Amino acid sequence: MQPDGEPMTALPTRLHQPQVQTDFLSASDAARLVVRVGVLECLRQMVVALQADYARWNDFDKTARTAAHSASGVIELMPVADDQDYAFKYVNGHPINTQYGLPTVMAFGALADVATGAPRFVSELTLTTALRTAATSAMAALKLARPDSRCMALIGNGAQSEFQALAFIDLLGVRRLQLFDVDRAASEKLQRNLAPWVTELGVEVHIAGSVQAAVQGADIVTTVTADKRNAVVLDASVLAPGMHLNAVGGDCPGKTELSAEVLERSSVFVEYEPQTRLEGELQQMPADFAVTELWRVLAGQAAGRVSDQQITLFDSVGFALEDYSALRTMHALGREAGLLSRIELVPTLADPKDLFALLKAQAAADQAESAWKQVA
Ligand SMILES: NC(=O)c1ccc[n+]([C@@H]2O[C@H](COP(=O)([O-])OP(=O)(O)OC[C@H]3O[C@@H](n4cnc5c(N)ncnc54)[C@H](O)[C@@H]3O)[C@@H](O)[C@H]2O)c1
Repeated sequence: MQPDGEPMTALPTRLHQPQVQTDFLSASDAARLVVRVGVLECLRQMVVALQADYARWNDFDKTARTAAHSASGVIELMPVADDQDYAFKYVNGHPINTQYGLPTVMAFGALADVATGAPRFVSELTLTTALRTAATSAMAALKLARPDSRCMALIGNGAQSEFQALAFIDLLGVRRLQLFDVDRAASEKLQRNLAPWVTELGVEVHIAGSVQAAVQGADIVTTVTADKRNAVVLDASVLAPGMHLNAVGGDCPGKTELSAEVLERSSVFVEYEPQTRLEGELQQMPADFAVTELWRVLAGQAAGRVSDQQITLFDSVGFALEDYSALRTMHALGREAGLLSRIELVPTLADPKDLFALLKAQAAADQAESAWKQVA
């Protein structure tokens, strides 16, 4: 993007003293923006952006994310680029964090010009990740869930859960939510936070006493739990014909939510296959286990749901392209709302080959200031 926000099509001509203008969206300004635009409208705009970007899948330079694993969690870097914009996200996943008063998932990221490498936008991505993950789940479910799906089980009621619930209420027409979390207080928090939509849309929200009770009668089952192990939140005994499974929480080697039999009985859809084979529920399956990349369904190159009896599974792990779409959406919305600030991330140089001049100028300024203090 150029400083005025328009896409850059050619290298910039040499200005006298070019400045890199970097926009910044803080966590509190992102919250202000989402409240101002409306959380449902943000989700809708993100789905539109995701659909447009997934539709041009082959324009992107893609790679599986790089991960640094530790005993308590993972820190990941997620890059992607087309011929104009480069995007990356830094994100962690530490299920232990809530015990220390920190979120399980925290993120930030940037957009830069491919033509020059100049960083144009730096943003919080914790709230944005919750929005883009829910928007991606909804985009997948619009192709994979039965169109008459009205009841969703939501297993794992932490930080991501409100966003998942709202995306499915607004975009899929879900009108009954059956919640379960091993921490009942988390389910009660989710129920309280959804109260406005209960009143406005007549959505029913029930807290169940077990996974089995939550899944009973559900058309869609979303799992979004955090646990750093191969957990079995759902086994095949709870499956019913026609279900759509939206498995969000298993997103790292050694961290899964479903039994292998669930995958065997489902048609499995993934974001970027090389990454999901390492990180998704798919890590449990043989290397030749058949899956379909979601972009092919969106592009009409592969079938999504083909019958009312089929069990479909979106094995979500989160892919960098979704952060590209989310960063561009938040940048555009933030600019429109006047909620971006400018930060000096890159120095402005009179001679781009004389970076050292910055130090000389600073030393001269410091000297002048100390001389002034002696006089004053
Ligand atoms: N696929 C993606 O794109 C994507 C994006 C963001 C987060 N995630 C993953 O989603 C998961 C949830 O993230 P969060 O930010 O909501 O975390 P969180 O810690 O805020 O909430 C997780 C909840 O899961 C509950 N839980 C743990 N084990 C459970 C079990 N066996 N049954 C029922 N509930 C259980 C916890 O009590 C907690 O309330 C994490 O694993 C995270 O890595 C995936």
